[in-house]
Amino acid sequence: MAAPGGGAGGAGARGRRRWERPALLAACAVPFGKMVVDGATGGLGANPIEQVQDRLGFWALAFLVLSLAPTPAQRLLGVAWPVRLRRQLGLLAFFTGLAHFSWYLGVDQFFDLRLVAADVAKRPFMAVGMATLLLLLPLAVTSTDRWVARLGFRRWKALHRLAYLAAALGVVHFAWRVKADERQPLAFAAALGTLLALRLLPRRGRRRAAPRSVVGQP
Ligand code: HEM
Repeated sequence: MAAPGGGAGGAGARGRRRWERPALLAACAVPFGKMVVDGATGGLGANPIEQVQDRLGFWALAFLVLSLAPTPAQRLLGVAWPVRLRRQLGLLAFFTGLAHFSWYLGVDQFFDLRLVAADVAKRPFMAVGMATLLLLLPLAVTSTDRWVARLGFRRWKALHRLAYLAAALGVVHFAWRVKADERQPLAFAAALGTLLALRLLPRRGRRRAAPRSVVGQP
């Protein structure tokens, strides 16, 4: 089986690798493009500020949970290529979460920190959101191969397991915020629980040496 960060060689594999990341970015740009189109055509409803806030939060969590899928997919199904997209998915989660927070801070609260403090006191789910973003920050910073080398593979891997905690906090943040329809947060919780359970299954075969490129591997 191919190494997590690499994959089998050959012209076909190299060609595939060339379009994987652009294809992922194009796919992930769709919800943002739709938001812009909806904004221009009145499709964001009666409260567009809240709608943009919610959509950014939703996609931040979606990218985060998706970033946890490639490892079990590789281990259980032997599909190696999604592993090469983990880092992009993790960074997309972080930057979308940052945009979600920036939108809230700048557009919703006009950078008024007293308003933010009062809001956090009134709606404690927001503190959970802040904890989620803070957890994602060191993961985004250390997502490069250079940081893997600097921390050593074991420590780096242990640090990046925090992605599961961040995703769990993101789900709590979502579920706590939702008042009536809990289906979406429950779906995220089910997906995350499944990924975690799969991740905890014992590895088959002997342990492999640390792969050459492991960026994005929680
Ligand atoms: C400083 C960090 C954060 C703050 C202050 C924050 C704040 C908020 C607020 C105010 C809302 C509700 C908006 C409304 O009233 O409708 C919200 C919703 C949400 N946030 Fe956050 N958030 C933060 C970080 C995050 C992060 C890192 C994630 C995901 C990884 C996230 C995921 C969500 C989700 C999924 C929703 C609900 C979206 C929906 O209803 O469809 N948030 N957040």
